[in-house]
Amino acid sequence: MSNYHIKHLEEYYQVYRKSVRNPENFWEEIAEEHFLWRKKWDKVLEWDFSKPEVKWFQGAQLNITENCIDRHLATRGDKTAILFEPNDPNEGAEHITYRQLYHRVNKFANVLKEQGVKKGDRVCIYVPMIPELAISVLACARIGAIHSVVFAGFSATALATRINDSDCKVVITADGSFRGSKTIDLKGIVDEALEDCEGVNTVLVAKRIDSDIQMKEGRDLWLQPLLDAASDQCKAELMQAEDPLFILYTSGSTGKPKGMVHTTAGYMVYTAYSFKNAFQYRENDVYWCTADIGWITGHSYIVYGPLCNGATTVLFEGVPSYPDFGRFWDIVEKHKVNQFYTAPTAIRALAKQGGDLVEKYNLSSLKVLGSVGEPINEEAWHWYNDNVGKGKSPIIDSWWQTETGGIMITPIPYVTPTKPTYATLPFIGIQPCLMDENGNELKGNQVEGRLCVKFPWPSIARTIWGNHQRYKDTYFSSFENKYFTGDGALRDEVGYYRITGRVDDVIIVSGHNLGTAPIEDAINEHQAISESAIVGFPHDVKGSALYGYITLKDTGEYRKQDNLRKEINQLISDKIGPIAKLDKIQFTEGLPKTRSGKIMRRILRKIAEKDTSNLGDISTLLNPECVQDIIDNAL
Ligand code: PRX
Repeated sequence: MSNYHIKHLEEYYQVYRKSVRNPENFWEEIAEEHFLWRKKWDKVLEWDFSKPEVKWFQGAQLNITENCIDRHLATRGDKTAILFEPNDPNEGAEHITYRQLYHRVNKFANVLKEQGVKKGDRVCIYVPMIPELAISVLACARIGAIHSVVFAGFSATALATRINDSDCKVVITADGSFRGSKTIDLKGIVDEALEDCEGVNTVLVAKRIDSDIQMKEGRDLWLQPLLDAASDQCKAELMQAEDPLFILYTSGSTGKPKGMVHTTAGYMVYTAYSFKNAFQYRENDVYWCTADIGWITGHSYIVYGPLCNGATTVLFEGVPSYPDFGRFWDIVEKHKVNQFYTAPTAIRALAKQGGDLVEKYNLSSLKVLGSVGEPINEEAWHWYNDNVGKGKSPIIDSWWQTETGGIMITPIPYVTPTKPTYATLPFIGIQPCLMDENGNELKGNQVEGRLCVKFPWPSIARTIWGNHQRYKDTYFSSFENKYFTGDGALRDEVGYYRITGRVDDVIIVSGHNLGTAPIEDAINEHQAISESAIVGFPHDVKGSALYGYITLKDTGEYRKQDNLRKEINQLISDKIGPIAKLDKIQFTEGLPKTRSGKIMRRILRKIAEKDTSNLGDISTLLNPECVQDIIDNAL
């Protein structure tokens, strides 16, 4: 039996038991046998959730890029590491072999070094889904710089906040990006952001759309000539196991985004191991995750996990609807994709187009289908299973988070029997539990509560950049000695988990986490607006969409509501990004509040969901009269 590759259900149970009975022995064995270490650890695990502090493989030294690239050169040098599929199918795919990747990463790493980037420095990467994105991530890791990738759909304000929060000196970007039939002026967004970022002294610009952009003298440099001149050999920096590898921002329900910090050794071991098993990856398979590297899914399961396993990973620049809604299936057929990992929102958008477009393509290469980012509804699950998988490819509904670094609850394909809408069983080494509101653990099956994890796993985020107290408050103070996920879940009669959704003020729109408070803050900056409250409501493609209740300061001038709606969404686009735009905006005379002045979102949520039969006791509100008015004018 190999603990590294699980092939039967009994094996899963056996390995799982081993991994929770003696986690240190278990992870030590995995780490020892499957990775390249420059120095072995002195201690496998040290942890204390009350501080909170988690350290894996202390004393070990390594470089993750040697694990992702160098060690494959002898046996997989000519194998495709990254298979780049451009936005325009006529441009043709690019196959980057492990050897080419090695040279390109080293060149990029040397360019960063020449620009003065050193171990521990933060580098912001604001690059579209082109090879330079993965290469810049790996180049940072090569020299021990901490990468902070910002999704290239975020606005200038959102980018500036992230650059400043982690004090990045260097920004890597591109002249622009292709998105379906559109182009986006990325460099323009960076220029605008940098007006508020005094610390940035270098901007490296990749050429992608060949647009006429402004280059600021003394700050902006074209990347290609620097890469051409750089050596393709760069010694990997020796990293300590717990040295930070990257920062990745995620929205909180309140306040500014949280820069989750992931460290080196544990993250590497867990993402590689979970990739191998959750996707049942085998040598020569072609694996494709459609996420953007700007999100954790892309970090762990486009870049690090697959490359650590010597896999071929597809990097797709475009969108599912361009040139038409058959694009995903065209790519699957063209590259004979074996594992396909996407989000429920994409599945729903494609399902809306019917099965005909799927039928046109030969999808017989597919062996595993994955879903991630939000709960997958039953209808979407069946459409995916019947039309894409033809009932033959198991669907892995994988639950995890930016904070967890890797997949936490998931079926293992061909091992765990699946059940629609259920993420099923904990992955190896993961000890989930459900808690009631009083802090008691709900034992046994057929229970529903708040989803926590009792014991550390190697890829848990170690802190929030610059704010350890917030890390503690957010994840470790709701339930003693447990990591609280912010999600609700139920456990069925056989112990399968089903994630029921967020229990805080985070709304997942098309798979993107959006905190309500930052959106409200953006809206409230409008001079005509007095107050706002954002809630989610069900949407057939996005999963959830945003409903804003807004009260105005005066009722005169600003009653021209259509304009105002546009202005509000423009403001949100500018401050956060187009993904946070409101689908519905209702102007109200007041918002229901408790006597202590807290907005009663529960009531607003119910109205947005068109479920007003049971609003509970509203007589204790400060202003119960406003509720009927809101119901009467609901959209
Ligand atoms: O609410 C859960 C939901 O997405 C949240 C994490 O979002 P993020 O940090 O952006 O990471 C997404 C990709 C890993 C979770 O707290 N979520 C993620 N996967 C699932 C899910 N909800 C239900 N089922 C899933 N499979």
